[in-house]
Formats: sequence, C-alpha cells, structure tokens
Amino acid sequence: MNTKKNIIIDCDPGIDDSLALLLALQSEEFNVVGITIVSGNAPAAIGAQNALKVLQLVNRLDIPVYIGAEEPLKVPFESAQDTHGEDGLGNSQIPPVTSVQPKTEAVSFIQKTLQQNPGTTVFALGPLTNIALALKEDPNCFAEASRFIAMGGSYLSHGNCSPVAEYNFWCDPEAAKFVFSQNLPVSIEMVGLDVTRKIVLTPTILEYMKHTDEQIYQFIQQITQFYFDYHWEHETVLGCVINDPLTIAYALDPTLAKGFNSHVEIATTGISRGQSIVDDHNFWQLPNNSYILTDVDQTAFWHLFLSRVCKAEGSQLSQVLPQLLEVRS
Ligand code: RIB
Ligand code: CA
Repeated sequence: MNTKKNIIIDCDPGIDDSLALLLALQSEEFNVVGITIVSGNAPAAIGAQNALKVLQLVNRLDIPVYIGAEEPLKVPFESAQDTHGEDGLGNSQIPPVTSVQPKTEAVSFIQKTLQQNPGTTVFALGPLTNIALALKEDPNCFAEASRFIAMGGSYLSHGNCSPVAEYNFWCDPEAAKFVFSQNLPVSIEMVGLDVTRKIVLTPTILEYMKHTDEQIYQFIQQITQFYFDYHWEHETVLGCVINDPLTIAYALDPTLAKGFNSHVEIATTGISRGQSIVDDHNFWQLPNNSYILTDVDQTAFWHLFLSRVCKAEGSQLSQVLPQLLEVRS
C-alpha cells in the first residue's frame, strides 16, 4: 500500500518558494499537512497570501497556511523584496485570495504536527526562525521527524548576500546557528547554493512551458518576469536561479543529487554573518550534524519538475530536454 509521506513546508514565498510549493502539491507521494510562513523574501503576512495564491491555483485551499515569525530572533528584518517584488511574487499583481484566511501559530503547528504524525518530513525554504522557535520551546520536537531538508547556506560556492553568506542563513543567523547546534535526531540535509545555482529557469525552458499546462505556464510566466530582469541586471544571467524546488525534487528522487556528511556551524557576527562553515576536514572532531549536497543532475531535476508541475508528457520531455538544457558547471 503506497502511503503518502506527511510533509510540512516552512517557507517565505517568494518566487522560488512558490515553485517548490507547486512541485510538492503536484506530487502524489506527498501529503502536505500544512504550510508555515516566515518573514524572508517578503514579510510573513504577504508570504501567507502568496502561499494561498499557489494553493488556489491548484485547487488545494483545503491545506492550511500558518503565519509564523515576522522578525528574526535578533537582527533587524531585511526582506528580499528587491529581488522578489514588493508583493513577493514578482509584482505580478495576482488577485488576493479572499475565500480563506491564513491561520497564525505556525510554531505550535510545527510542534503538534511533528508529535502527532511520526515520520513527518520538514522542509525549510526560508530563514530558520520558525524552526528555531519550535526547538527553543520544545527541544525534542524533532524526535519523531523522519527528515529535515533545508534550502540554505553554501559549502564551496560564494554567497548571495555577502561573499560567504546565503540569504536564508544571513537573514536570521541566530536562528540558523541555533538549529545547527541542537544535535537534532535527523541530519540537516543542506541544499545550498553549490547545487541550487545550477537550477536555472531559462527563457527556453519557460518557452517550452508555454506548450504544456496553460494555467501553470501563465502563473510561472507572471511571477518570474521580474526575477528574470533582476538576474539580468545584477548577475548578467538570462533566466533565474530557482533555489527552493531542488529541496522537494531531491526528496522525491534522492538519486538526482549527491553529497557528504559533515559538521556545520553558522557564523552570526561581523563580515562572516550567516556563513555556513563546513568542517569537511574534521578539525573540530565534532559529530556530523548535516548532509551537504554538492552535485545535482540538472536533467533529472528538470524532467521531474516539468512532468509534475507542468504535466509535460514523459516521452516528449526526453526528446525536448536536450534542446532545453545547456548543462551548467
Ligand atoms: O538564498 C536563496 C534563498 O533565499 C531561497 O530560499 C529564496 O527563496 C530565499 O528565501
Ligand atoms: Ca525561500
């Protein structure tokens, strides 16, 4: 009997968070028990509304959305609305969802769900504030979790908020430091910039999406145009890096990425604020707390994403994918 895997997605939608939500929602393997929102790309209230917009798109407004932390644990909140738009969805002006309201109490939802549903997988796609607050209040709340997969940090790749820091860990460094220091019963599967930078939604892939599910294409086109412009202006990249969906794809198909176990700690102050320090040579002789992803099969990712999210037909995809992908190193 193929039982669905219960999952919680803690996120800050956010353009790439929204694409990750779509992949999770369109995958039969998952039962999305709830979506919790943290301030990050956009303030939490805006993020919650964006999560509802994604749920409405796929007729899943039955899934609850919970607003969580509006501020980091200690540092002042700095959003990424310069990249994701004032509305957090590329200034796409998608009409708000009025038929359902988000709930609050994201942290207690995370704690209760983990306690009542042993074997739940937690995805963290934004700053780790909600996760840290859940653990501060109940240090054992991850005791029954099966996996904890977080988009964040980097190993050998440069940062996107500073030379060394990735946004999720930079935005709330105290939360990230705390979560990594808790010796969780599950390894923190760190999906960092080393692998997510290789997942680029290009104009060619977007053009192909036009020939798949029309409604999904329209949504993705609307929310990514601003992101395309930002990437061109700031990184001279044609297209946009979509970080978060790789966490979901990796959980669906562990063969599409490789990595190694290590001890990781997060710096919180000065020029290294938010840096994920990977002790790959075991200087500190401390227990491994993380699994760091270092390689990704881009073709396998796009095959999975396009077939699930855009309902692209398998044999057509195998034929078209080589045209779509210039494999990035
Ligand atoms: O650094 C990229 C991460 O920060 C992604 O999760 C993006 O959505 C933002 O939250
Ligand atoms: Ca995110």
